Amino acid sequence: MEMDRRDPLARFRDLFDLPQGLIYLGGHSLGPPPRTMRARAEGLIGREWGKDLVASWNRHDWLELPQRIGARLAPLLGAREDEAIAADSVSLNLFKLLGALLRRAEGRSVVLADEGNFPTDLYMAQGLVRLFEESGATLRLTAPEDFEAALGPDVAVATVSHVDFRTGRMLDMRALTAAARAEGVPLVWDLSHSGGAVDLRLNEDGVEYAVGCGYKYLSGGPGAPGFLYVARECQDALESPLWGWMGHASPFDFATRYRPALGMLRFLAGTPPILSMIALEEGLRAFEGAGMTELRGKSEALGDLFLRLAGERLAEFGVVPASPAEARERGSQVSLRHPDGYALVQALIARGVVGDFRGPDLMRFGLAPLYVRYVDVWNAVEALRLILVNGEHREDRFRARKRVP
Ligand SMILES: Cc1ncc(COP(=O)(O)O)c(C=O)c1O
Repeated sequence: MEMDRRDPLARFRDLFDLPQGLIYLGGHSLGPPPRTMRARAEGLIGREWGKDLVASWNRHDWLELPQRIGARLAPLLGAREDEAIAADSVSLNLFKLLGALLRRAEGRSVVLADEGNFPTDLYMAQGLVRLFEESGATLRLTAPEDFEAALGPDVAVATVSHVDFRTGRMLDMRALTAAARAEGVPLVWDLSHSGGAVDLRLNEDGVEYAVGCGYKYLSGGPGAPGFLYVARECQDALESPLWGWMGHASPFDFATRYRPALGMLRFLAGTPPILSMIALEEGLRAFEGAGMTELRGKSEALGDLFLRLAGERLAEFGVVPASPAEARERGSQVSLRHPDGYALVQALIARGVVGDFRGPDLMRFGLAPLYVRYVDVWNAVEALRLILVNGEHREDRFRARKRVP
């Protein structure tokens, strides 16, 4: 396709190990491995862990990985190098930030969340409120459209997803951050569906707190560490509720009393998982030289093309767009609705087009700008049209529910 020939990011696709012939639109769930991953993992297992064993902590700077990855990630977040760190899961990182901010709040006791948020975010908020129940903490859940109006003087901390995991709807980060700051509410953004997919400008937009995921658009591997971002000026005033030794000012003093490290290190808890950390580092290395403007431009163009083709070719079969038509209101994902969405996604997979399904009727397609081509979008929509024309999705084998949909 002409658009692929003109794509300034075309060369990046070769950095990924994608099975031949597969159209992979699953990067919003699990990014594919960068080609360098295998050699890096072999090096780690053979040379570092395998030969240097425990000396590797010093010889190969293993302990530096969380910060080094944070520094590599910073340009993708529009942040400074010392404002991000890789650690734990999104769930745990969110708990750390919500907990730190709730504990610090004076005269405010509400934890505010938008009920459209990813469930783990809501569960973490519920669990936290339960812990602080005796101090009067309560959880307030709002419909997404009521979230901004609920940022009132009783709110101790609020959390929201930048890009909705169901529909791909993207919030106006600058406007919502300003609204929260005007009400004196610290706002924790979940960037799981934004990091590596859209051009984040956390510093410019005045964002103070965020967490995000390593295994989606960042291609850090299944269960990759997540990340935390805290604006430089907010870091040392914040105390993580999880006092692990890696967040201590001097872990190898083995002191009895906890003393938080300075900066982002205080948000670490236990020993970093080195196998997972190196994978995430390779995932981020694949972004080297990719301009954020080009990345976002392509992500918007892929989404526009997908929605246009879906409108032209699939509407007659009852397929309805669930993602915003306006590119600036959409992340790097397109979702379509159909009552047979589950079976349609299974039939697509059988045709070599990988998307996924979220109930009750959403088909989700991740349009990772580093490796998805325009021709993939064209072929994916055409495959879906053929399935609908032939009624392939009515076959029993496409109706059996899998554990991970
Ligand atoms: C928005 C969002 N937050 C959090 C998570 C899960 O986080 P973790 O399993 O790393 O705790 C996901 C997973 O898909 C997600 O989409």
